[in-house]
Amino acid sequence: MTQLPKIIVLISGRGSNMKAICEACNAGDIKAQVVKIISNRADAAGLDYARSEKIPYNILNHRDYDSREAFDRALAELVLQEQPDLICLAGFMRILTPIFVAPFAGKILNIHPSLLPKYKGLDTHRRAIEAGDKQAGASVHYVTPELDDGPVVAQTCVDIAPDDTPQTLADKVLPVEHATYIDAIRKILR
Ligand code: GRF
Repeated sequence: MTQLPKIIVLISGRGSNMKAICEACNAGDIKAQVVKIISNRADAAGLDYARSEKIPYNILNHRDYDSREAFDRALAELVLQEQPDLICLAGFMRILTPIFVAPFAGKILNIHPSLLPKYKGLDTHRRAIEAGDKQAGASVHYVTPELDDGPVVAQTCVDIAPDDTPQTLADKVLPVEHATYIDAIRKILR
């Protein structure tokens, strides 16, 4: 049997996008295998899923490193051991330097809860509502050393209702993030 493409997922928290990717792989909707999950936080809730599903995981605490570069070097070494085809950032709350990004150029994806290039960074839903936007959404993009800046691979819009709050909008966008991420991975692996 030919080996499935290998995916590594990087998380910092809840891990719902990570779980959606794992489930899509298990269901055969993505023809790939999540070989490892890496979290920079030991208390990331997403790690409970990794444990329950017996998916190998590592905790690489950025606080154990003197600099951003030293952390990125350690992360790159850890990732290289698996020789992944794709690295999926899923709520990974670290800005990556070229030390990590360069060796894996074209292989790193991120999910962002806005219609990029609008609202890079944090607090995207509040900013979209305050700007009076009629639509918000989710974008999957290639990762470059610039924050939330690489080429967009897939994007989905949702309507903003007049009574939406940042929380209700986030609740609406999250399932769209999951579906958009799965579509983007499928597209890239095809
Ligand atoms: C998502 O909204 C993602 O777009 C953003 O952080 C959140 C992470 O959610 N970057 P989860 O950890 O995937 O549940």
